[in-house]
Amino acid sequence: MQDTKVDPKLVAELTEREEKRLEDSTPKSYELFKRASQHMPMGVASTYHARDPYPVYFTHGKGPHIWTVEGQEIADFHNGYGCMVQGHAHPLIVEAIQKRAPLGTQFGLPTEDAITMAEHLSGAFKLPQWRFVNSGSEATMDAIRVARGFTGREPLVKMFGSYHGHHDYVMVSLGVKDFGEVGPRDNYKSISYGAGIPQCSIDLTVAVPFNDIENMTKRIERMVAEGNAPAALIMEPAMMNLGVVLPDLEFLKAVRAVTKKHGIVLIFDEVKTGICTARGGAVERWGVLPDMICLGKALAGGTPCGAIGGTEEIMAKVNDGTVFQVGTYSGNPLSMAAARASFEQVMTDEAYTHLNHLNDRIIAGCDAVCAKYDFPGYTVGISSKGCVNFASGKITDYESFIKHQDHELVALAWLYNFNRGIIIAPGREEEWTLSITHTDADIDLYVSAFDELIHDVTA
Ligand SMILES: Cc1ncc(COP(=O)(O)O)c(C=O)c1O
Repeated sequence: MQDTKVDPKLVAELTEREEKRLEDSTPKSYELFKRASQHMPMGVASTYHARDPYPVYFTHGKGPHIWTVEGQEIADFHNGYGCMVQGHAHPLIVEAIQKRAPLGTQFGLPTEDAITMAEHLSGAFKLPQWRFVNSGSEATMDAIRVARGFTGREPLVKMFGSYHGHHDYVMVSLGVKDFGEVGPRDNYKSISYGAGIPQCSIDLTVAVPFNDIENMTKRIERMVAEGNAPAALIMEPAMMNLGVVLPDLEFLKAVRAVTKKHGIVLIFDEVKTGICTARGGAVERWGVLPDMICLGKALAGGTPCGAIGGTEEIMAKVNDGTVFQVGTYSGNPLSMAAARASFEQVMTDEAYTHLNHLNDRIIAGCDAVCAKYDFPGYTVGISSKGCVNFASGKITDYESFIKHQDHELVALAWLYNFNRGIIIAPGREEEWTLSITHTDADIDLYVSAFDELIHDVTA
């Protein structure tokens, strides 16, 4: 129930009703799931595609909509976990891919489009040197290695609860549901996210609270005093894997100051905020310049791609061969062509203006629903990203997210959306991603489904 005061019995009843409705409308998906389970754990290619009791499978997408194998058209607010801010099968991106494919898609040799993209990113994100990879995880993994090679240190600091990909350095101190074991805010314990992460990796990664200058600073100063100075601090400038939690600008400035003071490489993980919130991501929006930036997701219009930006001084370690930053598919011509089309022709100033308009509309609509039913929820959003917090208490970091968010209600909201022709990313921590192809009608559909949900849970 947490602080929405919605009767958990009512939520359980509605969840059962909506789950049955979903299952009745997705018989083909169930058949595919049975087939898929023979050869894929959970019947999916990645655990993030899974759903209990079975996932819905999809065939195709166009603009703001995607289609299930049952043929149901769905307004897509999931957008591939934020990759598809351009909308599905954008004609200019399709054209770029179609032009590139017959010329060869992979050489393991350099091509000109990567140079052009590095020039574009240098201009937008204000860091001069770039390398390309194939995912957000690769970007954060390699950025951390570069930072370690540059500083000659090993410890890593992250924000408690933040997600930076699926490699061992960062699968620490997230997804924790019980804060009883975590310890005080200036001395959080490091906790593995699932099995298989070596203890040495867990021990090297220290988590501090987001938006808490005092406890973040205390922990870092103590690490330095104990001869355990961090190589890097990695953070999302706005936390996106617990809905959306905006930064207090003073916090970003304090992080910048303490990392500069101790020679700690500040890495902004802009895998979600980059491209989706502004062409130059959080750097453009908040004006705090880190030492390194990681990009992924929306960078290449739905083709696999990531990027790492850095200062001249730091990237000199890659330039002189001290640190190996490599990858067979890095800067592959297909992704680079799609990234160029996206950057040069699709994510224009008008596109961002449209996203801001849509986000204002969805936020105003959902806020009006909360007011109409006197429901203690509130919205947060920037540009293409946003969420409704099913909470009255303010969510400023992971600890307050766990304390205030009504997680059962979030799960019910997902079912309500799906059964009314809308999809958002599953999981209690996900936010919506709007695409430049959404229209006011898509937004109004979302708001009307939200209205129905809040009407039913407050009845
Ligand atoms: C902030 C952030 N960083 C890194 C990643 C990892 O990206 P990928 O899944 O492409 O490896 C994600 C993925 O959700 C993310 O949200």
